[in-house]
Amino acid sequence: MNDNDTPLIGEIAEEAVEETSEQTETPKKHKGFSSKLGFVLAAAGSAVGLGNLWKFPYLAAQYGGGIFLLCYIALAVTIGFVLLTLEIAIGRKTGKSVIGAFTALNRKFRWFGFVCLVVPIIIVPYYNVIGGWVVRYMFAFISGAGELIGETATAATSDAFFNAFISNPWQPILFFLIFAAATVAVVVTGVQKGIERISKILMPLLALIAVFLMIYVMCQPGAMEGVKVFLVPDFSKFSFSTLLAALGQLFYSMSLAMCIMITYGSYMKKNTSITKSARQISICDTAFAIVAALIIIPSLFAFTPDAQSAMEKGPPLMFIQLPLVFNKLPGGRAIGAIFFLLVFFAALTSSISLVEAIVSVLRETLGMRRWTACALILGFIVAVGSIASLGFGPLSVINIAGKTILDMFDYFANNLLMPVVAIITCVIAGYFSDSDSLMDEINLKKGGVYRKYFLAMVRYVAPLCMLAILISGIFMEF
Ligand code: PHE
Repeated sequence: MNDNDTPLIGEIAEEAVEETSEQTETPKKHKGFSSKLGFVLAAAGSAVGLGNLWKFPYLAAQYGGGIFLLCYIALAVTIGFVLLTLEIAIGRKTGKSVIGAFTALNRKFRWFGFVCLVVPIIIVPYYNVIGGWVVRYMFAFISGAGELIGETATAATSDAFFNAFISNPWQPILFFLIFAAATVAVVVTGVQKGIERISKILMPLLALIAVFLMIYVMCQPGAMEGVKVFLVPDFSKFSFSTLLAALGQLFYSMSLAMCIMITYGSYMKKNTSITKSARQISICDTAFAIVAALIIIPSLFAFTPDAQSAMEKGPPLMFIQLPLVFNKLPGGRAIGAIFFLLVFFAALTSSISLVEAIVSVLRETLGMRRWTACALILGFIVAVGSIASLGFGPLSVINIAGKTILDMFDYFANNLLMPVVAIITCVIAGYFSDSDSLMDEINLKKGGVYRKYFLAMVRYVAPLCMLAILISGIFMEF
């Protein structure tokens, strides 16, 4: 990763005194990542997930392509970077899981650690359900399912395949168990031997697959039309809602307000630069989102008669439209299998980070052993995930305003709880804890302009923006 990209972040890092070896007192620190690279790849593995590969491309298409990308990048180098840095710093400074971390910042805020923990607890079961769908599609392409691939596949068969699959009571649960077992199998082996090692293998592989698919798709006739839509900003399409959508997506994509970055930060070595790592994670996350969009948008433009409206359909894009696109590509069966393998790896490293956030709390506060904590979480994922999965079949009667059980979990976590958690995190860090020593942890020079900038972002700008997301999330729904 090049250290001299993105000027603003680069400057901040320069003012920071990089690589100090100074040791501040940290009581009972977890055993953590063995290297800088291990930390960055694990955190990037968490950040790069379904949000990048699935949500970002269709949001970009819905909100005017290039202009959305521009807003996204502007927000990533400002608010996104600051919040990511802050969360990592809270973790590393305290060396604790999320509950211990907030208690260490201010004993009055122990309760807030529990509130934060609700986020990964809600997300992990349904994220695993969607992970299971991805596994199903990977196998469908490998085995060459006629509904998706070959002459027999049409829009109707693809649609029917997806709906029959998710409404089946057993099949989705079977695949979701495979995904959940894979997640827990990694976490149970520990931070260094499990999470760090798998991230070091999967992330470079992920990059290779993504770049290969991007180049392959862009070489297809007609693809350039889609590239233009995505890259060239049309300023007339800019609106306040573009900004809000970009910010909401950024937030989810960087795994903020999920306890993850605090947990991973607590495993980070003291002599690693936080700003530099945060910069590398942000660049990696944004690059994957852009590459994913450059796979999906051009391929739709090349092969779908009404690409724009296909893109705007949103969620069904990956499972219904995209397989048809692959079917039209030369070697589509292999390309489809490789694409879903990519999505599988990306989702797996994200799921791992969610589980680890919960495991670290169980170990620290209840003194559980790692494997006991993992077994407990697996049981929980299976129980709650099965309910979410059945929400598309036998339990579809349970829905509020057309939202399935899975949608309800997603709405509650993303639109309500996560903005609240982010706002309170900023408020605690900015007003109710020793913000100076947090800034020291980030290595921002005392009295320096970046320290002031950082504090202003944490105290005023970020919480206000999050409030805007929260309010708009509520209003758009009702
Ligand atoms: N950043 C992840 C993504 O883009 C979001 C996420 C992380 C979701 C971890 C769940 C678990 O998909």
